[in-house]
Amino acid sequence: MRPKLFIEKIMPVNLLNQQVYYEHGGNPFKGLHRWYSRKPLSFSRASVLGSILPADISLEEFEYLLGLEPGKEIKLYKTPPSSVRIKKVHDYCEKVWGNRTPTILDAFAGGGSIPFEAARYGLNVLASDLNPVAVVTMKAAMEYPLKFGPDLQEDIDKWVKWVGDEAEKRLAEFFPSLPGETVQNYLWAHTVVCPSCQSVVPLSPNWWLSKTSNYAGKGEARKVTSDWYAVKPIPNLEQKRVDFELVKGKKGKESTIKTDDGEYDPSVYNTISRGVGKCPNCGSVIENDYICSPSQDSKLGHQIYAVAYKKGKGSLEFTTPRECDLEGIRLAEEKK
Ligand SMILES: C[S@@+](CC[C@H](N)C(=O)[O-])C[C@H]1O[C@@H](n2cnc3c(N)ncnc32)[C@H](O)[C@@H]1O
Ligand SMILES: [Zn+2]
Repeated sequence: MRPKLFIEKIMPVNLLNQQVYYEHGGNPFKGLHRWYSRKPLSFSRASVLGSILPADISLEEFEYLLGLEPGKEIKLYKTPPSSVRIKKVHDYCEKVWGNRTPTILDAFAGGGSIPFEAARYGLNVLASDLNPVAVVTMKAAMEYPLKFGPDLQEDIDKWVKWVGDEAEKRLAEFFPSLPGETVQNYLWAHTVVCPSCQSVVPLSPNWWLSKTSNYAGKGEARKVTSDWYAVKPIPNLEQKRVDFELVKGKKGKESTIKTDDGEYDPSVYNTISRGVGKCPNCGSVIENDYICSPSQDSKLGHQIYAVAYKKGKGSLEFTTPRECDLEGIRLAEEKK
């Protein structure tokens, strides 16, 4: 029978709380790929060591093997264990398990914190996950760096740049920007054809683009400095379509934009609510069954209604689509 293990006796949670706190913010291991409920490295390290070391070592010895030093503020996640500590852990493993580098198995390894820490101690590691994205992330974080060494970073930088440059070359003509500007986003709405008047109706529960408020000044003088943006649908029954006008202003009462022409509420002109549409050209209700009809009676399509861009390093601005944007879309559709 195996001896009682350290984790069955005690877990120094206060100390680990402090370590977990250090791991908030910039952490290269976490930055590689987001994963839900990724455990802190320090805590994973303590779980691995606690599960292989015997219960009869002292708390001080455990803290030492973790990599801590009395009186020093050591951040474990940034500090790989020293070779002296690794050797000591292997010595204990030999006594407890009859093997200097026993196998640590994490069958639900997710972001890979447990296998990463086990590998730092030179243990034999097996990790798996049901989700292939987790598996690829773990390969990138553990297997490849160990297999290819520091050259891997140079190769990654080179090939990431190559893919970016090639994509840019091939795609630039479809995403044009005016001189001095960089387009950040295109905003599209799904469309249906109104069963009553045959207009193409863009669907959206509201026509907000941006409600970002930056404030300047204090007290009475406190003012919103950034603009709020939305679009306003303009009926065009003659051409059986809906056009858009840009609305730009300051924060108004409640959820409205204040402009020289008065207050505008982008939720009032919505064209869909709880799955039911409304045609701005003839006022008809467009039933959900029709919009979702499997035979596509509604002729679902899409329409661009705004473009977000930056001028130099300035803040995000919006516009209704310009001729250059529409030209990019036409080119992309031709190439399809
Ligand atoms: C909470 S996450 C693990 C987080 C991990 N300890 C870390 O620190 O990043 C749980 C993982 O279990 C995986 N999983 C769930 N069911 C599974 C199964 N039947 N077999 C293998 N993996 C499974 C999920 O895909 C998920 O990545
Ligand atoms: Zn209509």
